[in-house]
Formats: sequence, C-alpha cells, structure tokens
Amino acid sequence: MAKRVVLAYSGGLDTSVAVRWLAEERGMDVIALAADVGQGGDFDAVRQRAIAAGAVEAIVVDCRREFAEDFVAPAIRANALYEGKYPLVSSLSRPIIARHLVEAAREHDADSVAHGCTGKGNDQVRFEVSVRALAPDLELVAPVREWGMTREDCIAYAARFDIPITSTKEKLYSIDDNLWGRAIECGVLEDPWAAPPEDVYALTVPTGADPVEIVLTFEEGLPTALDGRTLPLDELIVELSATVGGYGWGRLDMVENRRVGIKSREVYEAPGALALLLAHADLEDLTLERDLHHEKARLEPRWSELVYDGLWFSPLKDALDAFIGSSQRWVSGEVRLRCEPGRVWVAGRRSQYSLYDHGLATYDATDQFRHEDSAGFVRLWGLGVQTWAARQARREQ
Ligand code: ARG
Repeated sequence: MAKRVVLAYSGGLDTSVAVRWLAEERGMDVIALAADVGQGGDFDAVRQRAIAAGAVEAIVVDCRREFAEDFVAPAIRANALYEGKYPLVSSLSRPIIARHLVEAAREHDADSVAHGCTGKGNDQVRFEVSVRALAPDLELVAPVREWGMTREDCIAYAARFDIPITSTKEKLYSIDDNLWGRAIECGVLEDPWAAPPEDVYALTVPTGADPVEIVLTFEEGLPTALDGRTLPLDELIVELSATVGGYGWGRLDMVENRRVGIKSREVYEAPGALALLLAHADLEDLTLERDLHHEKARLEPRWSELVYDGLWFSPLKDALDAFIGSSQRWVSGEVRLRCEPGRVWVAGRRSQYSLYDHGLATYDATDQFRHEDSAGFVRLWGLGVQTWAARQARREQ
C-alpha cells in the first residue's frame, strides 16, 4: 500500500508542485490540507488546484475562530512581541496548522506529514517541532528543502504535469498573512538600506478617514467588545485591523534574528495586533500590582522567543501560560484608542479593578496620602547608601 502523507497546502506554486513531487518521487498518496487562518482568498479554488495537482484528497479547514481563541488570545495576554517589535504573526499560525495536520493524519491513517518550507526559514522549525511534540511517531517530509529546484524549475515541473498555477510571472515578494497581520519578505526588501516601496502594503493603506475614537472592552486580559458591541475575537480583530489600518498605522520594518542563525530584513503590517497589544498593555498598567507587573514584563520576551522558535507545544511555554493566565484575573476594563492619520494612541483607560487611587495620587485638597510616613520610609530606603557614603567621607579625612 502506498504511504500516505498530509501536506500543508497553500495553493501556491511550491506546495502545488510538492503535491505532485510527493506522488511521483516518493510514491505517496497525498492529502492536501489548507487552513483558513484569515489570509483571505478562494478556498474552493485552492481545493480544486490541489486535486488537479494530484492530491487524492483536499481538505479545507476554517480555523479562524480557533486560531484567535487558542493562539492569538494567549499572545495578547503575553503582550507578545518578538525582539520587542514583531507580534508573531506567522509564528502563531504554524502550531495551529501543525495541530490540524496531525489530526488529519490520524483520521486518514497517514504515517507522515509534509510542508512546503525552505531550509532557511523559521516556519520549517515551527511545523516540525510542533508536529513532533504532538505526534512523535509521525514522519516529516520537506520537499522544497530536498528537491533542489529553482523557481524556474518548479514552473517547468508544473507545466510538465499540467499543474495549474496562479501566476507564472516573477513574484515580487514572499508574503504570509493571517488575521493577526501580514509578513512581507524578499525582492527589493533584501537590501536593508532600501526603503520598502508603497506596493508592499495592503492592510495599512491610508483611506483619508477623519480622526476617530474606539473603545475596547477587555475581560480578564482579552478584548471582548468594540465600541460596546460584543464580538468573537476573530471578528473583533478583523474589524479593528480595518479601522486602524485605514489610518496608515501598524507598519514595522525590522532586521530580525531567525532561529536558523540568519539575520533577515522583514516588513510587517499588523494594525489590529499592534493596537490591541497597545491597549492591553495599557490596561495592565492600571490593574496589575507592581511586582506582578514587573515579573510578567521579564517573562514576556521569553514567551515570545519560545513561540518564535517553534516551541509553542513545550513545557516551559505551558508553565509561562499558567503564570500569565493567573496574572490576568483583574485585567478587565476599557481603553480608549484615538486614531489619526499616521498614529494611534491610548487616550484613556478605566477599570472597576483599577489600582489607581485618586485619593492617593492627587495633589489637591482631597489628598489622603499620609505624608508623615514618607520621612521614615525614605530614611531607611537610603540608609545603606548613606552608611556607604559616610565610610568614604571618613577615609578621606
Ligand atoms: N519572519 C517571520 C517569522 O519568522 C515571517 C515569516 C513569514 N513566512 C513567509 N513564508 N513569508 O515569523
């Protein structure tokens, strides 16, 4: 019996050629799995293309809600930004796709799974480490890493086997998108000195809208409503992204460290993600106790690194999730976001669990702070330093 493989299928040139290559060169029955994580596009066409390329079966899974709730939600609570900037767009989608690959492999009695990543990127790491964590017995195949074909070779291969491809003309960029944002690489962007041309952007094109204020409601660290309308997380993100992106805000241009040792220049658009992270972190300023807040801030970069590095399913990530989860108990309230052309910022915040005490903070007559307590507190706080300075003064006499 032929070996069966479940392939993560995007509908693009590489994964379409991979379907045929696995069948021809490896004698495998290929089940193509396309995951809708909010990247948009015509999934019926994707399914038909997989079959035309030679797949014995083509599955399309709508994972938008699951992606938002199980993968994006923990990232919001963790204020997740890799290297302080990148909201982990692609890094978050790989583990959910891996989960569906494994599920499909079990359902269809496949003994292996495959992906269309090259050997130079992070995504191969995320797919493979995630699959191994979920199903240590499954084999992994990475056709694009093995076949040694150039883009021209792939186009020729597709022509030889009558594989329909969307466009044969030179693709300008390598793009990966989902509801949390969009990553753009390659082409002119490979020169880190070259400014990104306007045509790389799709989610942050200014529409000339008038300034507006958006009120975001959070419950236990997660956004639940937009301007008072309760929405499922995936829909809330999509709507917020469209609004905020319309002000031309939410772009990133960075040189980042890949897991495989390469520095690469990356351009991102993530208007909804960056706006939500901004609002969430602001609400934490209001509601988290100081030590908890500071400790969480130390752990957040570690969480982001683990996820970037493909360790979504790992014991340390689980333990950090437990810590972060416990920290979010009182992170409920509202944040006002102000949007103007080119900028979005927090204009106000409030919470029924606010730790901001006006009676303590105010300089007006309602002041309840016990000023007399400060004298002794400050004396003891500085006692060690004072003793140290006195020794210095004695020695110099
Ligand atoms: N550098 C980003 C990351 O590692 C984006 C990767 C995008 N993938 C792609 N196939 N264009 O998460």
